[in-house]
Amino acid sequence: MRGARELATPLGNEPRAGRAMGELRALDGGAVAIHDGRIVDVGPEGELATRYAATAELDARGGTLVPGFVDAHTHPVFATTREDEFELRTRGATYVEIAERGGGILSTVRGVREASRETLLARLGLHLERFLALGTTTVECKSGYGLTLDDEVKCLEVLAEARRTQPIELVPTFLGAHDFPLEFRTRKREYVDLVCERMLPRVAEAKLAEYCDVFTETIAFSLDESRRILERARSLGLGLRLHVDQLTPLGGAELAAELGAASADHLEHVSERGIEALRAAKVVPVLCPVVPLFLRQDKEAPGRRLIDAGLAVAISTDFNPGSCNLQSLPEVMSWAALRYRMSAAECLTAATLNAACSLGRGAEIGTLEVGKRADVVVLDAPNHRHLVYELGRSPVRAVVVRGRVAYSRV
Ligand code: NIG
Ligand code: FE
Repeated sequence: MRGARELATPLGNEPRAGRAMGELRALDGGAVAIHDGRIVDVGPEGELATRYAATAELDARGGTLVPGFVDAHTHPVFATTREDEFELRTRGATYVEIAERGGGILSTVRGVREASRETLLARLGLHLERFLALGTTTVECKSGYGLTLDDEVKCLEVLAEARRTQPIELVPTFLGAHDFPLEFRTRKREYVDLVCERMLPRVAEAKLAEYCDVFTETIAFSLDESRRILERARSLGLGLRLHVDQLTPLGGAELAAELGAASADHLEHVSERGIEALRAAKVVPVLCPVVPLFLRQDKEAPGRRLIDAGLAVAISTDFNPGSCNLQSLPEVMSWAALRYRMSAAECLTAATLNAACSLGRGAEIGTLEVGKRADVVVLDAPNHRHLVYELGRSPVRAVVVRGRVAYSRV
């Protein structure tokens, strides 16, 4: 890949924490040599030209080369949308009130239960096409809108099918504990039993998910219910990710640290103790900067504080039909810069290497370095700072996945 004005990438296979989040390798006129889907060299274009005789060249036309974006938190398997709730919030209703009236997560659950596999797969395919066009080359995908054994399995099998048939790498997460379905509202213990005794063993046995997630929240699963589910998941070999401290300061960050989770997500209400626990346990905070904005909530995650406290922050879209109908990581980067005061370099690290590490893939993706998979985004921008500086337009000109052009805009 040649013709770039700049190549910008974080370095290494481990999460970059604190000050190191802002240290990129930025190379004027940088180029990448690719063989068999892997990066074999990175350096000034002139030097690479003397070392290799390329069989095919991608001209970046004065743009910027960055690693493929990694979205570490999404809920992309759904069939129906919730624009009515968005509008209700403009008139003062809150996310929790809407959920209590039977809207919210349970509204999407109704749509998923009624939808066929074909419908869900077609819809997911559209979502994945859009992720790709926005530069996302790896995406974590949660179930969690089925909430019966069969409907959760249906969603995870749809993800498995999509994994085989399109270029983006999908990382499946089982989120059977997203909410208590209506039929178990008065029998919560029985639902937790169902998740632990029937859903998790089936998911683990069929290898339908790499991770298990729980919505730990006053309106969803308590700390004890979450611990029981997550310990069971861990004993079955699944990694752990948690939705924590999003709406109330319940202490979910401390639970994520106690359990050695791969990530603790949201964290709008995280306490100082929670921050320290995450740091000590090396849990990656996966922040979702657009969610409070979308939900009209004042409280935002302490993004700057987390970095200054020495954590390795990742940022994600949290794409879902209710709390954040957004698929663009460049746009998330802009909001992280505006709301958390993160630099462009910190945002890029958060949406590539740190997100990859939270998914156990730090050695494989997340940077432009020799040996890594050749997942590269060509930005229609003169340098990486434009990623956060320019809003309202996709900066993505082309996307290379495993060394092949998977998307290109003329
Ligand atoms: O990450 N907080 C829980 N889950 C989602 C919202 C899901 C929904 O409202 O459909 C989230 O914000
Ligand atoms: Fe979420």
